[in-house]
Amino acid sequence: MAPRRFLRATPHSILLSPLIFSLTVLCADVLQFIDPLIGSTNGGNVFAGATKPYALAKPVADVDGQNTGGFATDGSSVTGFSAVHDSGTGGNPSLGNFPLFPQICPGDEVNDCNFLIGERATHYVEESVTARPGYFGVELESGVKASMTSSEHAALYRFEFPAGDDSHPLVLLDLTDLWKSRQNASISVDADSGRLKGNGTFLPSFGAGSYVMHFCVDFFGGEVFDNGVWVNNRGGTEPKELYVTRGFNLFYLEAGGWVRFSGLTNNTLTARVGISFISADQACQRAEEEIPEPLDDFDRLLTETEDAWREKLGPISVNAGGASEELQTSFWSGLYRAMISPQNYTGENPYWDSGIPYFDSYYCIWDSFRVQHPLLTILDPSAQVEMVNSLLDIYQHEGWLPDCHMSLSNGWTQDGSNADVVIADAYIKNLTGIDWQLALEAVIQDAEVEPLEWAFHGRGGLKSWKDLSYIPYLDFDPAGFGTNSRSISRTLEYAYNDFCLATLAQGLGRDDLYNTYVQRSANWQNLWKSDQDSLINGNDTGFLGFFQPKYQNGTWGFQDPIACSVLADFCSLTSNPSETFEASLVPQSMSTLIGLMGNEESFINRLDFFHTSGLADISNEPVFSTVYLYHYAGRPGLSTKRLHTYIPSAFNATHGGLPGNDDSGSMGGFVVFGMMGLFPVAGQDVYLISAPFFQEINITSPLTGKTAQIKTTGFDASYENIYIQNVTVNGQPWTKSWIGHAFFNEGWSIELSLGNQESDWGTKLEDRPPSWGEAMV
Ligand SMILES: *[C@@H]1O[C@H](CO)[C@@H](O)[C@H](O)[C@H]1NC(C)=O
Ligand SMILES: *[C@@H]1O[C@H](CO)[C@@H](O)[C@H](O)[C@H]1NC(C)=O
Ligand SMILES: *[C@@H]1O[C@H](CO)[C@@H](O)[C@H](O)[C@H]1NC(C)=O
Ligand SMILES: *[C@@H]1O[C@H](CO)[C@@H](O)[C@H](O)[C@H]1NC(C)=O
Ligand SMILES: *[C@@H]1O[C@H](CO)[C@@H](O)[C@H](O)[C@H]1NC(C)=O
Ligand SMILES: *[C@@H]1O[C@H](CO)[C@@H](O)[C@H](O)[C@H]1NC(C)=O
Ligand SMILES: *[C@@H]1O[C@H](CO)[C@@H](O)[C@H](O)[C@H]1NC(C)=O
Ligand SMILES: *[C@@H]1O[C@H](CO)[C@@H](O)[C@H](O)[C@H]1NC(C)=O
Ligand SMILES: *[C@@H]1O[C@H](CO)[C@@H](O)[C@H](O)[C@H]1NC(C)=O
Ligand SMILES: *[C@@H]1O[C@H](CO)[C@@H](O)[C@H](O)[C@H]1NC(C)=O
Repeated sequence: MAPRRFLRATPHSILLSPLIFSLTVLCADVLQFIDPLIGSTNGGNVFAGATKPYALAKPVADVDGQNTGGFATDGSSVTGFSAVHDSGTGGNPSLGNFPLFPQICPGDEVNDCNFLIGERATHYVEESVTARPGYFGVELESGVKASMTSSEHAALYRFEFPAGDDSHPLVLLDLTDLWKSRQNASISVDADSGRLKGNGTFLPSFGAGSYVMHFCVDFFGGEVFDNGVWVNNRGGTEPKELYVTRGFNLFYLEAGGWVRFSGLTNNTLTARVGISFISADQACQRAEEEIPEPLDDFDRLLTETEDAWREKLGPISVNAGGASEELQTSFWSGLYRAMISPQNYTGENPYWDSGIPYFDSYYCIWDSFRVQHPLLTILDPSAQVEMVNSLLDIYQHEGWLPDCHMSLSNGWTQDGSNADVVIADAYIKNLTGIDWQLALEAVIQDAEVEPLEWAFHGRGGLKSWKDLSYIPYLDFDPAGFGTNSRSISRTLEYAYNDFCLATLAQGLGRDDLYNTYVQRSANWQNLWKSDQDSLINGNDTGFLGFFQPKYQNGTWGFQDPIACSVLADFCSLTSNPSETFEASLVPQSMSTLIGLMGNEESFINRLDFFHTSGLADISNEPVFSTVYLYHYAGRPGLSTKRLHTYIPSAFNATHGGLPGNDDSGSMGGFVVFGMMGLFPVAGQDVYLISAPFFQEINITSPLTGKTAQIKTTGFDASYENIYIQNVTVNGQPWTKSWIGHAFFNEGWSIELSLGNQESDWGTKLEDRPPSWGEAMV
């Protein structure tokens, strides 16, 4: 069946100012390159629905298949249409609260309608799925067609029922979320208007505690026929209110409200759903303000959302030089996904209001500090400043910087206290409007004070960290509580967190602090066991020297160096924690690490083995930078070569085109930086230079208005010429294989001449990216 779109964006350029008009025309192509369905199956978990940049409202169809982000192109069945989601996350299915579900009851009998999730779930018509910025549409096999768009805090749906049926279409609201985490909930139905109002208490999908969410639903386009509440698979017109909780054995009762309609114009019902974390009244008020004319506002909202995305993507322009449409789609869609979360919950925080923007859904910083936040720093620095200030706001009100935060709750910490890196990164890139003394205080607290529950903020084992200079295997740590594992990963990450603290302290003129923490940033060396070998299936890999766990008494423990990799068993944070978690790096001291591994040649052999043996899992964010570590061994050409083994084979424009969870746009960020030819070392003023995937890219700094240019000579879109021969910056020879953020702020121009053989550019010791410290003797 051909895709049926019964809604179209009406171009209304005549109504707009000439400025917006020209913007729209200039960037008209860019939105065509955004496919929100990339990562909608194969575990990408992306949110595929309609959203404004960073908005709270995110309507989409929810399915009973891979529904962590709501919808999936996995051929499963639609269970409802809900208005809030997270994107690309890896915990439990996130949000998806208070779904609506439209249907026709057989025989026009309310009690013959399907109320329960398992009964109402209906396959969607695969070809009917339409997703683009600001719009999501799908047809169910029941013949009901749904299309949706959104404002900041409200979703607008159109449900078109099959023609020629004179029964009364029913829409139910289910007091549930995707994870069925509801603890208790209330709903009331207005008998006359059919307005549904209420709230529910739910659990955050990867964190501690609970949160309350409120809703307000209004219907337009027909008459209210009758309404009521439902429980289990029975509905009635009385009472008009309902309170549900967890009963015997925490039994999950399915329940909600319903409304039936008559006299629908063109068989189409319009539903407006307001969401608030404050109150149902606020949900109603926001929805009324943002979508005052629901029957007429659809196209306006869609156009405003498209313009908002054009503006966000506006700083970049690309001359693809013949690169395929697929690669351009990967690039622009990656950019788009990096601006879906964190979410702007300003005015929606029930716990405090500091009078500054409040962001949530940092899900999780362990993923996002590496490329997503550095990308926002370039393209949307004022948003990045608001996000950093929001982290500091959380520090002031909750007492700690979060490592992960969603649904106004603390999320689980993976290893280190990586908000420290986000802060240092913002500092060295000269973002302004941040209280750096407060930031220093917050980061020092991470380094010095152990919280009672370090499972969701701060660090554990700080006494050992200070006394022994490593996190011991089976640490004795009565000061605080977390999963007592990941001693290697935590040691490595705490060391880098301390390096970032040292960087910030140095910048703020605190040499005393700098000296203390830069010393601590070398602690990772204490878990390097130089005589450790590694066997795979009994075969010696020939490499000597690995990180190993060490007991408190200084005796080495043992963990197979390949443990937790794809070749062994994946180690989950929660179910089988181990001494390592996914991967960790020492980006502050790569030259030291190379020394410990022998020399450049053995380091490169190891990298090659890592990437070709099946050990490397590019779906884990720490692996991103391993693609570029060749730079530190004086072989930047090999980084570009390695990158081409992952893009497009693991990152492409298909629906399953992400190797794993997008993690709030982290996979997107990796693709963008990779194709741009500059890779950030988060927390340092360093971008590693590689050959871009496009002939020419301009990036205009929203802060300074200056345009940085990445230009190539010898570019070929078949990627034979992927090796940089030589480089000029502003016309002068540039021998270093890296460049600082001033490139963007000052609008410099970098010109790369490309060839099909490695050259000696960037190979000299003094041209390698910075490394602190010496190899241990
Ligand atoms: C709802 O559930 C939450 C979490 O279990 C609980 O704290 C709260 O007291 C409950 N509210 C009501 C009104 O029962
Ligand atoms: C949820 O709604 C019920 C019914 O209106 C109300 O009594 C209750 O206070 C609300 N809960 C919260 C947390 O606002
Ligand atoms: C109903 O459908 C007709 C025919 O497609 C169209 O002309 C009319 O504008 C529609 N009415 C509304 C209110 O959408
Ligand atoms: C980049 O900017 C320069 C100078 O304004 C312009 O000549 C060039 O066409 C731009 N390139 C792209 C890809 O926009
Ligand atoms: C977040 O929302 C607030 C309140 O509407 C607004 O002032 C701020 O500019 C928003 N931030 C971003 C980055 O959109
Ligand atoms: C061990 O390595 C040899 C030579 O590389 C290879 O032929 C053999 O299949 C490997 N054995 C296992 C069990 O992997
Ligand atoms: C150190 O502790 C470990 C674990 O308890 C133990 O196996 C080992 O023998 C101890 N080493 C020494 C030297 O006591
Ligand atoms: C696209 O990426 C996915 C996920 O990494 C991968 O499984 C698939 O093979 C890739 N497809 C192509 C055509 O490269
Ligand atoms: C840069 O490399 C290109 C291609 O190899 C070469 O033609 C050109 O002479 C080089 N320029 C300099 C300044 O080395
Ligand atoms: C930040 O500001 C300082 C002082 O003005 C300057 O030396 C440095 O180059 C700037 N860094 C960046 C990344 O713009």
